[in-house]
Amino acid sequence: MRVPLLASYLFILSSCASGWGTFPVLRSRHPASRAATEFELSGQLIDVTGPHEYMAATNDDLRGPCPGLNALANHGYIPRNGFVCLLDAFFVSQSVFGFAVDAASVVSALAGLYASDITELPCLPFSIGGPTPRTLLGIILGESVGLNGTHNQFETDTSPTRCDLYECGENSIVQPDILQNLLDLFAQNQPGGQNQMKADFDTVGQHHVNRIQHSIENNPYFFYGPVQMAVSCVVHLVIPGAMANHSASNPDGYISPEGLKSLYGVAPGPDGKLKYNWGTEQIPPNWYRRPLDAPYSPLLGLVDMWTNYPQTLIIGGNTNGINTFAPLDIGDFTNGVYSTAALLEGNNAACFVVQAVQVLIPSILENVEAILTNVLAKYTPNLACPELQGFKMALLEQYPGYMLKH
Ligand code: HEM
Ligand SMILES: *[C@@H]1O[C@H](CO)[C@@H](O)[C@H](O)[C@H]1NC(C)=O
Ligand SMILES: *[C@@H]1O[C@H](CO)[C@@H](O)[C@H](O)[C@H]1NC(C)=O
Repeated sequence: MRVPLLASYLFILSSCASGWGTFPVLRSRHPASRAATEFELSGQLIDVTGPHEYMAATNDDLRGPCPGLNALANHGYIPRNGFVCLLDAFFVSQSVFGFAVDAASVVSALAGLYASDITELPCLPFSIGGPTPRTLLGIILGESVGLNGTHNQFETDTSPTRCDLYECGENSIVQPDILQNLLDLFAQNQPGGQNQMKADFDTVGQHHVNRIQHSIENNPYFFYGPVQMAVSCVVHLVIPGAMANHSASNPDGYISPEGLKSLYGVAPGPDGKLKYNWGTEQIPPNWYRRPLDAPYSPLLGLVDMWTNYPQTLIIGGNTNGINTFAPLDIGDFTNGVYSTAALLEGNNAACFVVQAVQVLIPSILENVEAILTNVLAKYTPNLACPELQGFKMALLEQYPGYMLKH
């Protein structure tokens, strides 16, 4: 099987699992809100010395579409060559960036997938960049196509700073002008000035709306299916959620433009404009992650994004070249169980995404789907999801981007 595929499942699963029990319909924008007096700066300072000293990637190292994983590799928090153990990547994402990862759910999902005894599986290797050569483990677990090779599984259109694959033929490197747009939008929404910009989720909501419009206008094969929709919303939310800096006066986090540029591996080029330098994603010295007692669970932010920016929830794609976006008829697609209007009611959108993930991410391992259904079933009762009689998959065939590669 393709390991990154599993990564995508688990990513969604674990964020679901950690938020499931108390799934908020509309919760506060800042789930980590704490009094400044409780702030323990020292515990949130990320170590970038000794074994975690920054070193730019070499040409032999794997780097890909995720700035978080690239930065972790450049600091040796995961192997510097970019060929990493999945569980390590999860746990380090939590300890360094304050990601909410429900360890129990990840482990139980893995145990179910691979073996009864998880201790027999210390490493599920995958590449954070392009494909890896076959290794002994590769033969056992299948080749790792790399995160970069998971287009329409986990790598999606409308990324915050990457091109769409069929827009540029390249979906892995940062487009500095798009990052600049995002920084400008943060500044515009928060005229308080540098280092006073709250880690604000509205700004990434607006940026995502702009990115979707851009894909409609520039990517003839734009496909924004249910899974792609959820993934691209999550990776937008992660920017304020996990890439903000924290200080005693801003315990909820603030966007440090310098910090964000550093984490993204961009710096001013000779012409003064931002330039991406491949392999240079760096955690800045004096960078403070969010508190671990309030880890960031993207699931909390999804409903807010969908509610405040409903365009981000409109599933569909271009049907015949650029500017031919047609929304998917959710009623027809779900055999009448959901409707586009009803998606925003209660937990419907969350239910729909979970159900879609189960069905739409293609799996190579035969029994993956059955096992996942069981794992998800463990967490979904609290959601009280409407019962589905399957999806009308043929409706997706109107989207060339879905047919091309999925
Ligand atoms: C096991 C852990 C992780 C996995 C498997 C993973 C995977 C991915 C993948 C496949 C993408 C590309 C999605 C797309 O096409 O838009 C992505 C993007 C992204 N990830 Fe991660 N990631 C992980 C951890 C992290 C962490 C810890 C951070 C936070 C620092 C992070 C921040 C981001 C951001 C901001 C993007 C959007 C990039 C852009 O286009 O600007 N990720 N991630
Ligand atoms: C990622 O995939 C794209 C398209 O297949 C390719 O052009 C690009 O070179 C790849 N990047 C890496 C780092 O493998
Ligand atoms: C992060 O915040 C700390 C505490 O206010 C500050 O000293 C540091 O310079 C900030 N780092 C970045 C990269 O903005």
